[in-house]
Amino acid sequence: MLSDRAKTLTGSQTSGMRNRARKLKSQGVHVINFAAGELDQDTSPAIKQAARHAIDTGRTQYTDTLGIRELREQLAHKVTRKTGITYTPEEVGFTAGAKQALFNAVFLAFQPGDEVIIPAPYWVTFPEQVRLAGATPVFLPTSQHDFQIDIDELAGSITPRTRGILLNTPHNPTGAVYGEAVLRGIAHLALEHSLTCIFDECYDELVYAPATHHNIVKLVPEMKNRTILIGSFSKTYCMAGWRAGYVAAPAVTIKAIANLQSHTASNACNLVQYAALAAMDPTNDEFVAKVREQLHRQRETALRLLDQIPDLTCVIPTGAFYLFPNIGKLLGRTYAGQRIENVDMLAEMLLEHAHIAVVPGSAFGSERHVRISYAIPIEEIATGFKGFEDFVRAIQ
Ligand SMILES: Cc1ncc(COP(=O)(O)O)c(C=O)c1O
Repeated sequence: MLSDRAKTLTGSQTSGMRNRARKLKSQGVHVINFAAGELDQDTSPAIKQAARHAIDTGRTQYTDTLGIRELREQLAHKVTRKTGITYTPEEVGFTAGAKQALFNAVFLAFQPGDEVIIPAPYWVTFPEQVRLAGATPVFLPTSQHDFQIDIDELAGSITPRTRGILLNTPHNPTGAVYGEAVLRGIAHLALEHSLTCIFDECYDELVYAPATHHNIVKLVPEMKNRTILIGSFSKTYCMAGWRAGYVAAPAVTIKAIANLQSHTASNACNLVQYAALAAMDPTNDEFVAKVREQLHRQRETALRLLDQIPDLTCVIPTGAFYLFPNIGKLLGRTYAGQRIENVDMLAEMLLEHAHIAVVPGSAFGSERHVRISYAIPIEEIATGFKGFEDFVRAIQ
């Protein structure tokens, strides 16, 4: 009954771990959920009020596929500010989360026979979307370079079939933030080889000093014609469940995206469009600043406690809200008489014995790391890391 495409498609492993943690919780077990991909905070009152007002004023019809005019104007301003280059409302579009924006972009930019370079480790969805477009993901290892991209290695991975590169900075799952020189190097290769650059900056507001986020179009303006920018409301504005994201690209690309989306989901929820407008209003800036402060405290706590766990090493993340420690030294050893064969087994054992949910690195193309999200209450971070430490100290 199903196509070959359906048979090779796998569900998101990050969601899998979250579901298992939820199930244990429903059985009364207190699970520390380090596996979440979202912040633990509620959406701001101003955003909720805007959505309520939209309901009360009957904003319940279809809208233009890529959003109401006012929203596209505000998105265009936002992207213009980010890039320092004018983007018009015809060069932006609102989507049901960045995931939909990414799918649209990948599906329309690539086709069978194309190779698309993805730095690895990678966010779990990137290779799957490239495969759905019929193209081939080509992984560029970054673990040897503290998760930064080595430009010579990138140049070496480009073949006559390479059509694009999928970049994400700040990076999920590693927390790496790409520096200016790296992004300039990538841009020059993209221009030289006519590559399409999909630039996912969903965590752009969540960066820790001394790191700063750089936008590739801002650094190299000629990249505007080669870049599809992707952004999200999920992280910065604590709106993950609302499904709000956007895309910015040359008008012809945005038109193609509107055509595709007009045959799939049509517009993202009308009410959410008004919520998104409220999110971008300057009066909401204070809320975002508080989110950042809170994350800063959570990150400091998590890094301090991680440091006390023996045999783990971690590249200090400077963006997003994840730690991506190397657990390689635990593999092949035993816990409670059971040999830890691989990272998946380690994650299972952590859940079963220490009641900690982490995402095994295998979901992101690494057999030697786990992803820990520290966007949870500080007391939970403390309890979780204590459990992790006890678990590791009991390994023989
Ligand atoms: C790198 C990256 N891109 C895109 C997304 C999707 O975000 P959204 O919730 O806006 O679909 C995520 C969500 O975790 C992400 O980590």
